Parts: sequence; C-alpha cells; structure tokens
Amino acid sequence: MATIILNHPLIDHKLTIMRDKDTGTKEFRQNLDEIAMLMAYEVTKGLPLKNVEIVTPICPMTGKELVRPIVLVPILRAGLGLVDGFKAIIPNAKVGHIGMARNEKTLLPEEYYAKFPSCLDQADVIVVDPMLATGGSASAALTNIKKRGAKYIKLACLVAAPEGIAAIEKAHPDIDLIVAALDEKLNEKGYIVPGLGDAGDRLFGTDE
Ligand code: PRP
Ligand code: URA
Repeated sequence: MATIILNHPLIDHKLTIMRDKDTGTKEFRQNLDEIAMLMAYEVTKGLPLKNVEIVTPICPMTGKELVRPIVLVPILRAGLGLVDGFKAIIPNAKVGHIGMARNEKTLLPEEYYAKFPSCLDQADVIVVDPMLATGGSASAALTNIKKRGAKYIKLACLVAAPEGIAAIEKAHPDIDLIVAALDEKLNEKGYIVPGLGDAGDRLFGTDE
C-alpha cells in the first residue's frame, strides 16, 4: 500500500475556500467538484494498461487502454460530492454506493445502504469520501466492499487526520490511499482540526 498526500497548489487554493466557515453551499459544492477533477487525475496515475493495436490516419500503431473497468464508490452522503468531478474525467466509470453513517456518540460507523455494479470484482475501484477522521467509516466501507469481491482498491479523501490515515494503513495495508491534504488532529468530538466542519451538512445544506 502507498499513502500519497497530494499537496497540490490548485487543490490547496480551492480547499481553503471550502474550509472558510463563511463559504456557502453553492461555492462549497463548486470547489469540491473542481477539486474532484484534479484528484481524479492524480488518483488514476499508475492504473494498469495493456497494449492495443490501432490504425491512426497515418499508420498502424500499438496504443494503450486501461486493463480494467473503473468503479467509483462514494461513501454516502458526503462522498457524493466527489462523484461528478470524477465522472467528468472518467465518463464511463460505473458507480456503486455505500451508505455509512457515523454514530455521533460512539463515533462508530453503521452501514445503511449498499448497491454495486456486477463488475466490482474485476474493476479498479476508487472509494471516495471527502473526510477521513477516525477512519472508521472508510475502514468499514473497505471491509464491506472487499467482502463483495473488490480486489483492486484505492481510497481517495480530501482532508485526513493522522489518526484516520493510521487506521486505514493498519486495517487495509493492501490498498492505496490518496489524500489531498493532511490536517493536524481530531478534536474531542472526532472532527478534523482545522478541517472544514461537517462535509455532508455543508454539501447538502443540512445543519445537524
Ligand atoms: C462523515 C464523512 C465520513 C465520516 C468520517 O460522514 O463524510 O464518511 O464522517 O468520519 P470517520 O473517519 O471518523 O468515520 P458522516 O458520518 O457525517 O455522514 P454524512 O456523510 O451522511 O454526513
Ligand atoms: N466528518 C466530517 O464531515 N467532518 C469531520 O471533521 C469529521 C468527520
């Protein structure tokens, strides 16, 4: 497994807008969408390719195509905010959904929805969630996706706490983890500091 922290100037600029407490729903969504496109480029680096024979208008050549289909798996709800941006770059990606809700008292994740395309076991699976806090939601989602047959998995998160990264590295040493920004710590409520608050609430305009 590799853990990659992107630290990309354009992402950091847009993420700062998202972090600002005065940024409203429209701008929050728009910046997440734009960041998702930049992340899609980075996350798909290194996907396996195979040779394919084609003919250009000039001559035959050996080109490249992806070995496997791509399946995006947003962790509901907040992961939905990354889907459109990824789909803009990978328009033929299939999308599976997994609903994980963090119990705010125990901080433990509970699965409440799951639906995946049948090619999950042959696909490059990119699990997306903006926030990796304790890592509980993502870790449980990865476990459940593996149980359904997924083998080639990457996890892409916007903001991570060191605790979340450590949890994924421990529970899922076989997957690649790509994080746009590494923050300082978790607070006593399990929120990322400095973070951006509750990603789902800010994305959907809910407030609890
Ligand atoms: C948020 C976020 C992650 C999770 C991270 O979801 O989108 O899925 O918390 O926290 P963890 O790493 O400690 O598990 P939340 O449970 O708030 O649900 P929502 O997306 O529906 O708002
Ligand atoms: N979930 C969020 O949406 N934000 C955090 O800071 C932690 C978990």
